[in-house]
Amino acid sequence: MAEPQAIYLHDYQPPAYRLERTELTFDLNEKATRVRARLHLQRHPEAEAQAPLVLWGCELGLERIAIDGQPLLESEYRIEGETLTVERVPERFLLDTEVVIEPAANTALEGLYVSGPIFCTQCEPEGFRRITWYPDRPDVLAPFTTTVIGDRDREPVLLSNGNPVERGELPGNRHFVSWQDPHPKPAYLFALVAGKLDCVRDSFTTASGREVALELWVEEENLHKTEWAMASLKRAMRWDEQSYGREYDLDLFMIVAVNDFNMGAMENKGLNIFNSAAVLANPQTTTDAAFQRIEGIVAHEYFHNWSGNRVTCRDWFQLALKEGFTVFRDQTFSADTNSAPVKRIEDVALLRTLQFAEDAGPTAHPVRPDHFIEISNFYTLTIYEKGAEIVRMLRNLIGAETFRRGSDRYFERFDGQAVRVEDFVDVMAEVSGLDLGLFMRWYSQAGTPQLDCRGEYDEAGQRFTLTVRQHTPPTPGQPDKLPLHIPLRMGLLGDDGTPLTLSVDGETPGTDTVLHLTEAEQQWTFEGIERAPVPSLLRGFSAPVRLDYPWSRDELAHLMRFDEDGFNRWDATQRLALTAIEEMMTAHAAGETMHLDARLIDAFRYLLNQPADDRAVLAEMLRLPSEAWIAEQQSQVDVDAIHAARRAAIEQLADSLYADFERVYHANQSTAGYAPTPEQIAARSLKNIALSYLTASGEPETLAMAKAQFEADDNMTDVRAALTLLAHSDRADLGDPAIRAFGERWSHDALVMDQWFATQVTRPQPDALERVRFLMQHPAFSIKNPNRVRALIGTFTRDNRVNFHRRDGAGYRLLADVVIELNRLNPEIAARMIAPLTRFRRFDEARAALMRGELERIRAEKLSRNLHEVVEKALAET
Ligand code: TRP
Ligand code: ZN
Repeated sequence: MAEPQAIYLHDYQPPAYRLERTELTFDLNEKATRVRARLHLQRHPEAEAQAPLVLWGCELGLERIAIDGQPLLESEYRIEGETLTVERVPERFLLDTEVVIEPAANTALEGLYVSGPIFCTQCEPEGFRRITWYPDRPDVLAPFTTTVIGDRDREPVLLSNGNPVERGELPGNRHFVSWQDPHPKPAYLFALVAGKLDCVRDSFTTASGREVALELWVEEENLHKTEWAMASLKRAMRWDEQSYGREYDLDLFMIVAVNDFNMGAMENKGLNIFNSAAVLANPQTTTDAAFQRIEGIVAHEYFHNWSGNRVTCRDWFQLALKEGFTVFRDQTFSADTNSAPVKRIEDVALLRTLQFAEDAGPTAHPVRPDHFIEISNFYTLTIYEKGAEIVRMLRNLIGAETFRRGSDRYFERFDGQAVRVEDFVDVMAEVSGLDLGLFMRWYSQAGTPQLDCRGEYDEAGQRFTLTVRQHTPPTPGQPDKLPLHIPLRMGLLGDDGTPLTLSVDGETPGTDTVLHLTEAEQQWTFEGIERAPVPSLLRGFSAPVRLDYPWSRDELAHLMRFDEDGFNRWDATQRLALTAIEEMMTAHAAGETMHLDARLIDAFRYLLNQPADDRAVLAEMLRLPSEAWIAEQQSQVDVDAIHAARRAAIEQLADSLYADFERVYHANQSTAGYAPTPEQIAARSLKNIALSYLTASGEPETLAMAKAQFEADDNMTDVRAALTLLAHSDRADLGDPAIRAFGERWSHDALVMDQWFATQVTRPQPDALERVRFLMQHPAFSIKNPNRVRALIGTFTRDNRVNFHRRDGAGYRLLADVVIELNRLNPEIAARMIAPLTRFRRFDEARAALMRGELERIRAEKLSRNLHEVVEKALAET
């Protein structure tokens, strides 16, 4: 087999043939589904008359191919790899093909496959070519008519995009439904679902008074888990009308839940398909965090109807055009619906740990890559999360109102078109009059910019000078970086905590301003500053950068108390905790006792005794920096020191502030019935973080409190928090029965069993890895199901760092074994799961060698294109 070839953005050519209409007929059968495609094609006026027709296809049994009713001779077309070429075609013609595919054998979960008894599709980015020969590229759009034929008993429900226009009975106990989608769309937005499904119906009246039927399709046993997604959908529909002036554009909107799905969900036109984990919720089975995640994903997919579907991408290099914008939209929606500062804190924490790590590793890539081997590998945190940060920076640069005018213009101008990142940025430049030329570098330059800030107070001159240097470290293929346009929101605090009025460059913007960094080094002088101030920098995390400033611990405590910016109060607390933990790590390395800095204890005491005006933020402030974020600070990661120091810090906080945590725990109990409201979520979050500190004190009665909370069985948030504390404690007499009880109670519910897996594989005890191997044999586990793999293997490698990085390399071996098996079954998931191994350069020599050895072992296999690309990048000499 030939080496997989890279595809380059600069090679883009517009399609020579456009589609006027696509007509599909599916005759469903698990072993042999027959797909007939009638493609009404037309040469583009600007294309050469000699231009050949090129279609894509993959693992298709071609049974018939005809043009305008004339079957083609074998000499009249050519199949090479994934393309089918017809050298000579008329200017306008009907291409008619028939292929046979085997959904039951499709373990990659791309194209048409079966999830249990349900037929479903996943076509983004290039799954449609596993269904039929087609111009499978996002810049070829067509209205679709789809007829689905199935067995009346096995597939009573037959769904596709758009509106049902005809249905009828056929011989042999078969029936059909025809669907029409009037909105031209690329093939990646095609969907088909068939099987025994039940429907929950609702309706939505749009701002202009149109009635939209809403349908949520699930397997019968999940009917009790649909309410939240439906309510979330209606909130999202209303929000998009109010915030972006976007109405839904069909009479019917459907969501389907399937159990086997590679990602969270998919925005197929009028027929969103969801991973059941991203849509099904119930207080008994679902934690607060999952409720919020579901609300966000339902909104995300719905928002794609405009940002992605009505206006789509010209080519896959532009993926962040739809994903970055849509993530930004769902983040803003969730911020408006829940605690806005906590939403920001969570998004930033995710970005700073996982996206920064990606940006610092061998698979680092720009938000708009310029080449790829396998596009599925580019559905990354960089495209999604950093892509969203770029949109956020744009809005902050031009202001929310101007941004809205820009988005209106974008949707209006490019409706029905497949466009580029430039088109989006250009309308924003147009409506604002701002030059965004330099800003475009955010899309082309990979890596996380580093800002080094220094302040100097001149007492005699009563001025404070801030010097900011920016540089971006090299990333693979991009050794030299240029300065970026970085918005740095900031303010200055007086020594009594009051915000100081800023007077800079002859202007007085108030107590908060945005500095525009455009050069490698810049200086700003603030006049009329009477005493040395404490700068508050990068407020609201105004740019996706690492920022360094030599704050003293007292200054950080000052910011924690007084900053007007909620995000920076949290960030100051994180920085303060980080310095304290790092100090303990040094002690740990030197074999000394680890003492927690009293200033952190004082800071926490202060927080715990504040009037609880924002309990949601308080809970976040009490959470110590994650092991992943601490690791991001180290040039060489020492997983053991990180774990030991963080754990010791928790224990010492627990000992010093036991009474405070106990009071907070009791003060946040509630007798009200469960509801995933922001107030209740905040109270549970605070209560459960307090309980986690209490159990860290080692006082035996605290585990009794956890046990009581577990047994009260009030809601999954509280049950899971308690179960985790019991299972992670050293008291096997308490942990084991709880795990057993939970496993027996929920053995019928795969999504709850995923939580059961996750809880066990994050145990800090040294036998965790053996438990992972053991649980892989559990009847509830299946390597073919992505949710199971993520819950068991993904959680272990991401959240149990001490055990995954065991010195004997057993963790690496385990992951490599799994990746090798997944390589054959599901290349997309294999390429995602391998990520932790690719970061071997961040670890000590012995571990790096073991990880590299496993990568070499994987490389010796016959690799899918997905895994090939990732492994080669990881092993490339930089
Ligand atoms: N567009 C989907 C989203 O909203 C992403 C997605 C769903 C996807 N399933 C996929 C991407 C399978 C690649 C492969 O984020
Ligand atoms: Zn998306």
